[in-house]
This record gives sequence, C-alpha cells and structure tokens, in this order.
Amino acid sequence: MIKVAVCGALGRMGMTIGRIVNESPEFQLVGGIDLKPGSFYGVEVFESSKIDDFLAVSKPDVVIDFTVAAAAVENIRAAARHNAALIVGTTGFSDIQRAEIAKAIEGHVPAVISSNFSIGVNIFWQLVREAARLLPEYDIEVTEAHHRYKKDAPSGTAKTILQILDEELGEKKKQYGREGMMERGSEIGVHVIRGGDIVGDHSVMFAGNFETIELSHRAYDRSVFAQGAVKAAYWVMGKHPGIYGMGDVLNLTGKSDR
Ligand SMILES: NC(=O)c1ccc[n+]([C@@H]2O[C@H](COP(=O)([O-])OP(=O)(O)OC[C@H]3O[C@@H](n4cnc5c(N)ncnc54)[C@H](O)[C@@H]3O)[C@@H](O)[C@H]2O)c1
Repeated sequence: MIKVAVCGALGRMGMTIGRIVNESPEFQLVGGIDLKPGSFYGVEVFESSKIDDFLAVSKPDVVIDFTVAAAAVENIRAAARHNAALIVGTTGFSDIQRAEIAKAIEGHVPAVISSNFSIGVNIFWQLVREAARLLPEYDIEVTEAHHRYKKDAPSGTAKTILQILDEELGEKKKQYGREGMMERGSEIGVHVIRGGDIVGDHSVMFAGNFETIELSHRAYDRSVFAQGAVKAAYWVMGKHPGIYGMGDVLNLTGKSDR
C-alpha cells in the first residue's frame, strides 16, 4: 500500500483528498499537517512546526500539499529531506518560490506540480493552446471565478492560461480589469470574480469582427481536483527525480502545462 500524508489536511482540498485516499484500497492515509493539530478520517493531524518529526515517524511514500504558497515551499523541502515523492496543488508561488521548489526537488525526489489537477482543465489548456495558434489576430479576454475564500488572484489556472497564450503568441501586455477611458490595444484582458461557493470557472474568449469563440471549463465539485491529485500520487511512485505535470500523468501528447 502507498503511504500518503496530506499537508493542509483540514482545508477544503485537504479534507476532500483525505476522504478519497481513505476510501482507496491502494493507499494508506498516515496522517496530516495543518496549522493546528486535530484529526481527519481516523488519523492524526500534526501542527506544521512538527513536520520533520511526523515525516520521520510516519515515513509516507508521497506527500500531497494543498496549503498556501509560503507554507508549501517549507513542506516541499521537508518532504524532499525525508525522500517522499510530492504532489503539489498549491498556487500563488512567486518566481523566487518556484526556483526554491525546483532546487529542493530536482535530483532528489519525483514531484507532480500542477495549478489544476482536473482532467478537464488539462484538456482545456490544450484547446486554448490550439485556438491561440489558429487565431493569432483575435482579441483575447481571460475570465476566472472562484469562491469568496480564495486567497490568490488571478488563479493559478488562469496564470497557466496566460503562460500558454504567451508561448503561442509572444509575450503580450496583461490588462487586469478596466476602468475609465481605455483604448483596446493588443493586450490580453484578465478578469477575476470572487463570490459565494464557486468551485472554479475559467473562460477564454477570442473576439474577432462579427464573431467570438469562447472556451470554458466549470468545476462543480472540488473532488475533480482531488481525484486528479490522487491519480498523480499513484503515478509518481518509482519515477525518476524531477518535476512533472498532469499532462505526463494523463499521457497527453504535446506540452505538459503546469
Ligand atoms: N491544483 C489544483 O487543482 C487546485 C485545486 C483547488 C485548490 N488549489 C489550491 O490549493 C490551495 C488550498 O486550497 P483550499 O481551498 O483547500 O484552501 P483552504 O484555505 O481551505 O486550505 C488550506 C489549508 O492549509 C492550511 N495551512 C496553512 N499553512 C499551513 C502550513 N504551514 N502547514 C500545513 N498546513 C497549512 C490551512 O490551515 C488550511 O487548512 C490553494 O493554493 C488553492 O489555490 C489547487
């Protein structure tokens, strides 16, 4: 059985992942880490300052992290120190934090990192890439909507969309919202909505004269992210050290967007 530990165990994603791991015969949930101690699905949740002691005793094969960016960097370092493979779903990393994460992982442990673990979004990213390639002259507007508690903006998934557009079209200016007198140039408009319990909506509009094409993805339940993360935890076992994307897990042809 694959031993799994969850960082951010008492959060929205951590609780969903814990349930799925606990219900899967291939996995054994060995415990969790969160800011405060507690328990979930019959195992102990330790406070984050005790992560090294917890990992030394529970010896997980894989650590799944859905926390906040600053915490995730520390959790990743700790997991790598204890030779645990990693699944990282946390978003909102700065470039410096990304470099720190790469340094902790490369040459040490295998890790799957993705701003979105849903199968649908990984296909959606490929469709966006293809549309950008086919419609280079069209105006582009990216919109995302999430629940009222989401901390980072725009979402990691939207940032991956912007990275895909830059890769296909060359780097363009991003316009985050609009107000007042503004002439449209070649920028990409980015719009963020926060409210209620929206699980995660993303859309990319390509607007030309007399027509628009809109690609969109809507998640109705966070179990789509959790199922993908657990699938990645199974896949990552025995892989060479290094950073992989969900496209590698799903065996999608083409670039594995993260
Ligand atoms: N990649 C994906 O598919 C995907 C999907 C959904 C959410 N996310 C991301 O996952 C992260 C968590 O989302 P959420 O909705 O579960 O948030 P949440 O706020 O419900 O949960 C985060 C949990 O992390 C805990 N935490 C904070 N600091 C910690 C530390 N040092 N050690 C351990 N735990 C710590 C918090 O106490 C909280 O319980 C966010 O970055 C979000 O954007 C990613």
